[in-house]
Amino acid sequence: MRSMRIGLLTGGGDAPGLNAVIRAVTKSLIRQGGAEVLGVEDGYLGLIERRLRALGWQEVSGIAALGGTLLGTSNRVSPLSYQGRDWRDEIVAYARELRLDGLVAIGGDGTMAIADALDRHGLRTVGVPKTIDNDIAHVERSLGFDTAVATVTEALDRVQTTGQSHGRVMLVETMGRNAGWLALEAGLAASADIILLPEIDYQLEAIAAVCRERAARQRFTVICVAEGAKPRGGQPTVQALEASRPEPVRLGGVAEVLVTQLQPLLQSEVRATVLGHVQRGGAPTAGDRVLGSLIGDAAARLVNDAAWGQMVSFEHGRLGQVPLMAVAGRTRTVPADHPLLQTARRIGVSFGDS
Ligand code: F6P
Repeated sequence: MRSMRIGLLTGGGDAPGLNAVIRAVTKSLIRQGGAEVLGVEDGYLGLIERRLRALGWQEVSGIAALGGTLLGTSNRVSPLSYQGRDWRDEIVAYARELRLDGLVAIGGDGTMAIADALDRHGLRTVGVPKTIDNDIAHVERSLGFDTAVATVTEALDRVQTTGQSHGRVMLVETMGRNAGWLALEAGLAASADIILLPEIDYQLEAIAAVCRERAARQRFTVICVAEGAKPRGGQPTVQALEASRPEPVRLGGVAEVLVTQLQPLLQSEVRATVLGHVQRGGAPTAGDRVLGSLIGDAAARLVNDAAWGQMVSFEHGRLGQVPLMAVAGRTRTVPADHPLLQTARRIGVSFGDS
């Protein structure tokens, strides 16, 4: 019997730890089943443009500590609607031509939705979750989140000392479109005074009241705001609309909006820092390297068990598997009664809502 031939791609925005997954999937498939692994370049675009390359033991050695993704990625391309049409027939035919037995797709909810569609169309697929937003259903700790929390925490710590020196209100804007896990954990880690999340609508006056009270007592205030945060009765701040993308709305700019609105209400100077892609780049933490190794090996085992149409899950501290369709198009947001929120409120953090 010939050994399996498996495609491997990274889709969506990059996240620290992707290379650790690429390494673990490849090495585990080679070691456990003698499989041949083909890396797909630039996410699903590589399947459309027929850009694959062999990934052997050597190619993936020594990469776990590197940021980004060895294979490249894209969050602008869906084979379901690229250049105005559906590419699934071509992709499945190409996979047959290549004698691919299946595909491992590493990505967020968008990548999983496409993986599910391809799996149903005839290209058997296994999913591996990653995102710094930590918002994938059935995954309590997603790849890249640990590193992003560390990066944002360091930024908040640094901003705090300069805010303290000048007696300023310092806003730091993080990523997090629909879910505020990153702002919440980093804000808590760095002792932010106010944390604004997409899940909890803020009121300007409530924020201003905390800043005034702190100005009298401690001179400075640090506010950690997720890009998807919005005022009560309002909408998130949109930076750009890009019709050609699967996710056409690019969020960003809420921190600057808050500077403009808060400044007239306060005596302290109000300043904003937008962290942007700094949060996604750079070397993964030890935690993300370990998690990447675990979920990469788990994906290889799903392939060897022919558990197609499944994604590696991580719930209650254990790795498992869930159908791709249980993840596709869903977002894991911060519940109103989450213990982290409750702890933060009990120790005096404001969420700008009262
Ligand atoms: O999905 C992860 C994420 O980091 C979001 O929080 C953010 O809105 C988006 O990626 C930004 O993507 P891009 O790099 O394409 O602007």
